Amino acid sequence: MLLALTGFPGSGKSSVGRELSALTGWPFTDLDAEVERLAGKNIADIFAEDGEDGFRNLETEALRGFCRAAGEDCLLALGGGSLLRPENADILRGRPAKVVWLEATPENLLTRLMEGTSGTRPLLIGNVQGKLGKLLESRAGHYGSHADITVSTNGRNPSEVAAEILRKI
Ligand code: S3P
Repeated sequence: MLLALTGFPGSGKSSVGRELSALTGWPFTDLDAEVERLAGKNIADIFAEDGEDGFRNLETEALRGFCRAAGEDCLLALGGGSLLRPENADILRGRPAKVVWLEATPENLLTRLMEGTSGTRPLLIGNVQGKLGKLLESRAGHYGSHADITVSTNGRNPSEVAAEILRKI
């Protein structure tokens, strides 16, 4: 099974994916890293030079390549916006997959984003709080509508979240 992690930036998709990989032995792939590999440059440079559309095109290409090449049991951390394109959701559902939404309150997201690597997230650069608020508003209902399983990450570390995911699938 392909287990795909979705959720807002800062929800912990990559950390939880690595934990799940340690627990299951399934290989873990970070879609943002695949996009960077494909482009030969980092996400910030892709947005700066090719715009969000350019990034989204690469994201679709990376997802298609991953879904074609990955073995049966595998883990994928999607980018926070990967399922905004209906085409991408179709690509993901082209093989047996479960989508896990890592749900978090705005407060938890903001705390993690301020502690972490928000500087590398083009959509949140500058006024992180204000931009996160807009993203939350524009994506209300989005993640839940794609999820087979929802797991709260509030006040939990990645290994607790990973353990709950494995209990639920
Ligand atoms: C994006 C989230 C980022 C990255 C890109 C766009 C988004 O991934 O794919 O900056 O649209 O939410 P993370 O969710 O891992 O930060």
